[in-house]
Amino acid sequence: MKEDLIAIETKFSAEIDGVDGLAALDDIRVAIFGKKGEMTAILRGMGGLSAEERPVVGQIANEVRAALEDKIKEKKSLLSKLEMDEKLSKEHLDITLPGIKREAGHRHPVAIVTEEICRIFMGMGYEIAEGPHVETEYHNFEALNIGKGHPARDEQDTFYVEGGKVLRTHTSPVQIRYMQNNKPPIAIVAPGKVFRSDEVDATHSPDFNQIEGLFVDKGIHMGHLKGALTVFAKSLFGDDIKTRFRPHHFPFTEPSAEVDFSCFGCGGSGCRICKGEGWIEMGGCGMVHPKVLAACGIDPDVYSGFAFGMGIDRIAMQRFNIPDLRLLFENDIQFLKQF
Ligand code: DAH
Repeated sequence: MKEDLIAIETKFSAEIDGVDGLAALDDIRVAIFGKKGEMTAILRGMGGLSAEERPVVGQIANEVRAALEDKIKEKKSLLSKLEMDEKLSKEHLDITLPGIKREAGHRHPVAIVTEEICRIFMGMGYEIAEGPHVETEYHNFEALNIGKGHPARDEQDTFYVEGGKVLRTHTSPVQIRYMQNNKPPIAIVAPGKVFRSDEVDATHSPDFNQIEGLFVDKGIHMGHLKGALTVFAKSLFGDDIKTRFRPHHFPFTEPSAEVDFSCFGCGGSGCRICKGEGWIEMGGCGMVHPKVLAACGIDPDVYSGFAFGMGIDRIAMQRFNIPDLRLLFENDIQFLKQF
């Protein structure tokens, strides 16, 4: 057995000396000390020795084991160091390279313009109001003096949804909701999405964005409306901008008008942006119809008010010189990056 131990030491010492990789070194360790290793087999066999032989062989076995273990340990640290040196000589880090930039998100042009518009009206004392996208026909139509069978219902290409509700076709129902829950004086703007089953082209989309305005108090008249929208126009596009009001009809206002802003592109002389008109149509407005006030529990003999509704997408297109409405909805990252 002594001879066996010596043989093991000689054989494996040579193997360890000759090995040139960590994985191969570990294979040797297993061949010696593993479950089926040669050293393990010998230690197991020691039970069969006589009481005199056992301590003698045991001591040699311990010495051989310690010697081989030390040798493996030494070799392991040598090989690890060699591997690390090799790795370091191959890999190198250029700390002067620029870092990899992470792209941060930012606001959509429609959101930027919405915020700008709201800020202007907030500066004039208006509050921001909101309403649901899925509306009752009552809020979207009836309370706004658009009864059943009224031609304006067809004009608005309504999306009907389950439960007799509609996707709001304009932001005007927010007026109703606000007046039902608040007493005059009222000054609000309500931005948000609206929906119509429209064609999709350079100026039409089935969902787009409007901003509604409502101002109700005692003694409010058309002059207040013109003043508010003119201050708004100048704040948004600059002091040179003029406004123009053309008679129109809406069921929920009387009298009603459409409001145009002088073209910010050419100042009114006519250009590509205004298609030679010098004016750009911005939205509808008027004095809140007495029936609408009454439907919301506000006495039209005491109070009067004005309202307006404008397309936000159109304002964004003008503000950023965007030629096609669809660009605002496609969310092409190359396009959005420009804002
Ligand atoms: N709701 C109208 C539309 O979407 C726009 C509008 C016109 C709103 C006149 C108003 C208004 O508040 O007074 O076509």
